[in-house]
Amino acid sequence: MDWKVLFFGLVALVFNSCKEENSNPQVDENRIANMEKKLESTYKPGLGELMSFIQLHHAKLWYAGINNNWKLTEFELTEINEALEDIKSYNADRPEIKEIGIIEPALQNVSKAIMQKNSKQFEESFTELTVSCNTCHVATDHGYIVIKTPDSPPFSNQDFRVK
Ligand code: HEC
Repeated sequence: MDWKVLFFGLVALVFNSCKEENSNPQVDENRIANMEKKLESTYKPGLGELMSFIQLHHAKLWYAGINNNWKLTEFELTEINEALEDIKSYNADRPEIKEIGIIEPALQNVSKAIMQKNSKQFEESFTELTVSCNTCHVATDHGYIVIKTPDSPPFSNQDFRVK
């Protein structure tokens, strides 16, 4: 047999079997079920994990602010805002999310204080922020999780002063 005939015969055979496989509804269903299984086991941060992350940046925000390290305060505030966005997308199934707006006015006031590099306004809005964390904890039956202004830096290996 001519090799060309053999070659094109093989190509046609492979092509047809692929076509058949693609149009087989059972195969499609299995593929979809497999993908769904993979999606279910994909890592998704929990609400408690994201809250712990926010707790850390809440503390760092304080030490950045009292050191007038405005660039760092901006960074820490962004971390908090990003975590809140993650909560909205990853934990949309949690009923507590309805209360998340409680924190918005305080976050905006902290942001204003940072933009104006105003220490007094920063401290006041930070207190307002902490109160709003606790207001939401109470509103969502987690009143036993009490946040306060930190009295020691969260880490000894980070310098919060302006370089
Ligand atoms: C939606 C309203 C809401 C807001 C606003 C909120 N929290 Fe929470 N927080 C929760 C809920 C609900 C939980 C319980 C999460 C869980 O089930 O694991 C929680 C848990 C926590 C925990 C415990 C995490 C752990 O596993 O130990 C900390 C710490 C925390 N929040 C800090 C904060 C801080 C700091 C702020 C403000 C900057 C804040 N939260 C704002 C609702 C809120």
